[in-house]
Amino acid sequence: MCGIVAYLGEKEAYPILIEGLKRLEYRGYDSAGVALMNGHLQVLKKKGKVADLESHILDLKADTDANIGIAHTRWATHGPPNDENAHPHVSGNNRLALIHNGIIENYNSVKKALEEKGHVFTSETDTEVLVHLIEEVQVQKKVSLSEAVRIALKQVVGAYAIVVMDKEEPGTLVGAKLSSPLVLGIGDNEYLLASDASPIIKYTNKVIYLEDGEIVTVTKDGNYEIRTLENELSDPKVTELDLKIDDLDKGGYSHFMLKEIFQQPITVAESMRGRINPAEGWAVLGGMTEHINRIANSDRIIMTACGTSWHAALIGEYLFEDLARIPTEVEYASEFRYRNPIIRENDFIVALSQSGETADTLAAIKLAKSKGALIYGLVNAIGSSIARETDCGSYVHAGPEIGVASTKAFTSQVTVLTLMALYLGHHKGLIPETKFRKLLAELESIPGKIARILTKDDKIKYIAGEIRNASNALYMGRGYNFPIALEGALKLKEISYIHAEGYPAAEMKHGPIALIDMYMPVIVLATNKSAYEKVLSNIQEVKARKGVVIAIVSEGDVHIKKIADYIIEIPETEEPLTPLLSVIPLQLLAFHIAVMRGCDVDQPRNLAKSVTVE
Ligand code: G6P
Repeated sequence: MCGIVAYLGEKEAYPILIEGLKRLEYRGYDSAGVALMNGHLQVLKKKGKVADLESHILDLKADTDANIGIAHTRWATHGPPNDENAHPHVSGNNRLALIHNGIIENYNSVKKALEEKGHVFTSETDTEVLVHLIEEVQVQKKVSLSEAVRIALKQVVGAYAIVVMDKEEPGTLVGAKLSSPLVLGIGDNEYLLASDASPIIKYTNKVIYLEDGEIVTVTKDGNYEIRTLENELSDPKVTELDLKIDDLDKGGYSHFMLKEIFQQPITVAESMRGRINPAEGWAVLGGMTEHINRIANSDRIIMTACGTSWHAALIGEYLFEDLARIPTEVEYASEFRYRNPIIRENDFIVALSQSGETADTLAAIKLAKSKGALIYGLVNAIGSSIARETDCGSYVHAGPEIGVASTKAFTSQVTVLTLMALYLGHHKGLIPETKFRKLLAELESIPGKIARILTKDDKIKYIAGEIRNASNALYMGRGYNFPIALEGALKLKEISYIHAEGYPAAEMKHGPIALIDMYMPVIVLATNKSAYEKVLSNIQEVKARKGVVIAIVSEGDVHIKKIADYIIEIPETEEPLTPLLSVIPLQLLAFHIAVMRGCDVDQPRNLAKSVTVE
């Protein structure tokens, strides 16, 4: 969590830093701060969003003239969100300012040792301990800033991406990373350091993704140097970014989430571009071809992820078992990594992550790797840590997703999982040629069908208005629609703060039915053909208890229409592809309810898009 950005060059640093913070705000928005170097060190910080920091600085009429600075937007871990705990943090001698994303796990013992040496702390953060530690090293060893950072970091345990400035070395920025992301942007006579490339792309498309245990020093004379914690020179790879600045704006929509929902006909098509050909009858994923025999002969597929990506993984389980007949398990990364799981060399691990930075997913991968399993990454963010840590993988190509609640990344993950299952099933000779081509052709038609669902936005908005005041909601689905019931409920919880639960429809009788009364909206996914009659009975059971039924049905439905309170029709498709369509109305429903309730849809309270702490 937390976003960091730093600038060193010839331009005014302040506007670049503020704009960068706004781009990184999806990572956390409890408080924000900036430190500027212009002869003296000026630190300005404020509880709240980046916009609050901006108005605070305007009110102060602070002099923001500087060509070097660092900035931070926070998601609180140690200490509540307030002005004192906001970053940047400064050393006791007011010489250093530091921004940090991550957690210093041994901060308590380090803090005690520093207190014994006379250090006084003004915040409750682990970060302040780190800046004091660097100060202590400087005092004791009289070394350069970069060397002091290196020595100090050798003493800390935890995760960090940091950038430090020193009044005594006013033309230098030092950054370092371990388990939290840090990207160096190399421009003309200027450098940027940031948690991701979004603050950088406006100025340069040349970047270096720093590796764990690397320390970068950039100086005003135009040089940069990267060393390891062991003080060895690194030979970094400069990457060209394939990112457009327009991808980072709302593009005329009121919210990023709405833009991202409406982008799905394009993003789903992007996810399969060059990867299928129904006419010629092939589906291929570059990341799989090299290992296809090993994957096809795996004893087991283990999928690991968090949040919405975990829901995509659940659909993957249905797909892999249904189409490729490989036993599949789905694991919350946070549980998997700590429960001493059985992982064998012949297991195929698929890690899913939009951000590619989720700490638990990253740790789960490292664990599985140590057991010799083959690790595949399904990641959206190009160049992210998970993409680099896996043995092979596929980008899902949804493009930057900025709304904190994931939408287009989810449908892209499901699209690529579908391709993986089809590729594997076909390779294993399990899917008859005609069925295979039919599924491919149907997959190709999905973007058009999503576009058709999106034309129903007004109707969905109307239904949202009818249930906006509910305190609870139930989502029910069977088979391929069960994970969508979970995802629909999560979307509603995340952005509207209405308590919602997703259930397999038949499980309703084992508990949730007790909750149903006239105030309970029950959103039922009633599209899949094989379970239609059973879901129809479930709807009748809800109606018998006066629940309000909103049914997602296939176009032309006759039976459910008669008993449901509201219906949303979606195009028919092959059953394994149903999730790609049935999730769309649920995304829109959650969006409209949240807007009507006055919620901050793109930045819901307490959440962050990139969860880089456990
Ligand atoms: C956070 C986000 C969710 C996301 C989850 C996993 O909780 O708010 O939208 O699904 O992390 O993130 P990942 O980037 O690994 O998919």
